[in-house]
Amino acid sequence: MNFILETLQVLLMSIWYNLESFVHLFVPRRRKNIEGEVVLISGAGSGIGRLMAQEFAALNTVLVLWDINQEGMKETARLAKESGASRVHYYLCDCSDKNEVYRVADQVKREVGDVSILVNNAGIVTGKKFMDSPDSLIEKTMEVNTMAHFWTYKAFLPAMIANNHGHLVSIASSAGLISCNGLADYCASKFAAVGFAESVGLELLATGKDGVKTTIVCPYFINTGMFDGCQTKWPTMLPILDPNYVAKKIITAVLTDQVFLLLPKTMYLITALKTVLQWKLFSLFGSYLGLSVEVDCQTFPSRHLKLQ
Ligand SMILES: NC(=O)c1ccc[n+]([C@@H]2O[C@H](COP(=O)([O-])OP(=O)(O)OC[C@H]3O[C@@H](n4cnc5c(N)ncnc54)[C@H](O)[C@@H]3O)[C@@H](O)[C@H]2O)c1
Repeated sequence: MNFILETLQVLLMSIWYNLESFVHLFVPRRRKNIEGEVVLISGAGSGIGRLMAQEFAALNTVLVLWDINQEGMKETARLAKESGASRVHYYLCDCSDKNEVYRVADQVKREVGDVSILVNNAGIVTGKKFMDSPDSLIEKTMEVNTMAHFWTYKAFLPAMIANNHGHLVSIASSAGLISCNGLADYCASKFAAVGFAESVGLELLATGKDGVKTTIVCPYFINTGMFDGCQTKWPTMLPILDPNYVAKKIITAVLTDQVFLLLPKTMYLITALKTVLQWKLFSLFGSYLGLSVEVDCQTFPSRHLKLQ
């Protein structure tokens, strides 16, 4: 195709996409039916993992729960059954261990079947300044928050590709788009998770597997206890998010094939400003918003790390 034709095509498509977005300001997007789909959620023993399980359960899906917290998973399974899941299976799986991920994934395929919606949600935070972070915790953070996504994709993506049907959901963080002070390993792990999910999503599109969708979730602080002790400077503009609200937004994003979900909405503006403002100005703006100064990791209870 020559330059003029290709440019014209891009211009026309841009107009079409903008019109489409405008219409959807008034007309809700069509939601897909996921009844009977096998949904695997890692880190389902608490927090938004548990709430997502309940939301997916209400849509009559088959649930597969993974966590290192057996009691937490049992409780999630009970709640999910109450919410209407057609079947709930739960497995102890330490996602930081590649061999364990592959072993438990094989067990899931044998006992439940192919997973068609994969939610990589398990996550940990060290809660220490970089130089105070023990090497073992830095490695663990990368293994749980990033590397586990590689291994779960390797395990479950082939069936999705073969069927040209599936959905990959990455629960990343706003810390995967904009770094903050005192969370070096966490930010690195979440930036990597975002880049990984985005790149594989593009690879799938390029190979014509457009039936396998991607949703990348980047929320600001959520009131689950993971970041207890962290405060927001301007709660109206950047609220600490309600976990139920986040879980519902994630399910809606999956049902409408939304690729990026940033929460709260101000994160879209802040992320855009990061790329257009000069760094000094953005740092000033970040301090004003409390993006870097209010994160006091020393106050975190490292409850997740004690579990391991
Ligand atoms: N809470 C927040 O403010 C916030 C903000 C943005 C993104 N997130 C992300 O959301 C996700 C869920 O966090 P949450 O707030 O519900 O916290 P949470 O601690 O309640 O949930 C995390 C779950 O992951 C499990 N887990 C930890 N290590 C594991 C491992 N090795 N293998 C399997 N499971 C493991 C934990 O047992 C726990 O059930 C995480 O990826 C987190 O990084 C959280």
